[in-house]
Amino acid sequence: MSARWGPPAGLVLLLLLLSAVAARADRPARAGKAAEAEPEESSAVFQLYGDVYPHGLYYVAMSIGNPPRPYFLDVDTGSDLTWLQCDAPCVSCNKVPHPLYRPTKNKIVPCVDQLCSSLHGGLSGKHKCDSPKQQCDYEIKYADQGSSLGVLLTDSFAVRLANSSIVRPSLAFGCGYDQQVGSSTEVAPTDGVLGLGSGSISLLSQLKQHGITKNVVGHCLSIRGGGFLFFGDNLVPYSRATWVPMVRSAFKNYYSPGTASLYFGGRSLGVRPMEVVLDSGSSFTYFGAQPYQALVTALKSDLSKTLKEVFDPSLPLCWKGKKPFKSVLDVKKEFKSLVLSFSNGKKALMEIPPENYLIVTKFGNACLGILNGSEIGLKDLNIVGDITMQDQMVIYDNERGQIGWIRAPCDRIPKFGSSFL
Ligand SMILES: *[C@@H]1O[C@H](CO)[C@@H](O)[C@H](O)[C@H]1NC(C)=O
Ligand SMILES: *[C@@H]1O[C@H](CO)[C@@H](O)[C@H](O)[C@H]1NC(C)=O
Repeated sequence: MSARWGPPAGLVLLLLLLSAVAARADRPARAGKAAEAEPEESSAVFQLYGDVYPHGLYYVAMSIGNPPRPYFLDVDTGSDLTWLQCDAPCVSCNKVPHPLYRPTKNKIVPCVDQLCSSLHGGLSGKHKCDSPKQQCDYEIKYADQGSSLGVLLTDSFAVRLANSSIVRPSLAFGCGYDQQVGSSTEVAPTDGVLGLGSGSISLLSQLKQHGITKNVVGHCLSIRGGGFLFFGDNLVPYSRATWVPMVRSAFKNYYSPGTASLYFGGRSLGVRPMEVVLDSGSSFTYFGAQPYQALVTALKSDLSKTLKEVFDPSLPLCWKGKKPFKSVLDVKKEFKSLVLSFSNGKKALMEIPPENYLIVTKFGNACLGILNGSEIGLKDLNIVGDITMQDQMVIYDNERGQIGWIRAPCDRIPKFGSSFL
């Protein structure tokens, strides 16, 4: 869902609204893209960097362009479009870790291209294209009033396959040259966003269209930071993971395992079934007003006498102990596990132990990493974010229309051909 450019870490959660803006330039555009037919679909795995706290995001290093240059991209299964801050020239860009991507005119996607209409159609329903030579402009608007304006390009992305050979398909992504997001003085942690939603502009869908990988993506976010991301199904533990059919979310192209009931310490919290989406672009988990209230009440009434509520600038609800905590391990025994029980799967439970909903801040306090979604306008949508998906392999399988998860040691990158779990 989100691109998080600004501090404080992860607290900014941005709703994506893409809309077409009037095409403004009449630049010569390349005709179609060369179709790349690979004989067989493979898989690819990428190292992840970052953490929930203090960085507030997980990101990947991608090599883009010719010659290839590295860019850090925020891994986001909650949005479709991949985009980079871009020197087109840049009207307003954040300070980013790498030199801005510099586009050339022959990389511009014309607005008649199918990718442009799916970008516009899937998100705003408006697709304006008066002349076949017009470029494909777009605007991303965020719930916190931030925005990014850009143009759709294609360039080569280096992808190392399971057999170690590297393919360089030409994939479409956004060149964002006018950002009104975050702080302009601080360096943003990433150069852009890696959009892995289910829409056809998503990098994942494009890799499938090129016959490179299956339309399957998974991530394993380590609680100690880092982890890995994969495309394709070679690493998927089909028989052992918990699977739930994917539900068309009322909220755009989000990945949703449907509705779930909420349990705390083995007891139902008595809230209405919650519509859940999984979103790696959100550092924290967000509950709607009713489950949030029920959770906070249950947590407070269950709290050990050794913990006192305390103000901490990191998050809204924090506790301190007799002495500062060094890690979640110091405090997890004071808290019970949560469970989401999904109505669509057979015994499909997602266990949320304390380390999947608490952080320990630099002040040594334990804070609740499940936030009140109503406060940021999420209404009844419940977002399972990075904190809750840590140390699980989470698989979004668009081929079979299912979402799976399984506990996993995420801090070592698996080798293809070996059994990982
Ligand atoms: C690796 O796999 C891809 C696709 O499966 C194939 O096109 C390529 O030729 C393979 N490379 C080698 C070195 O076997
Ligand atoms: C959650 O946010 C809503 C909207 O701001 C507010 O009315 C509600 O009281 C909040 N819930 C809690 C438990 O703070």
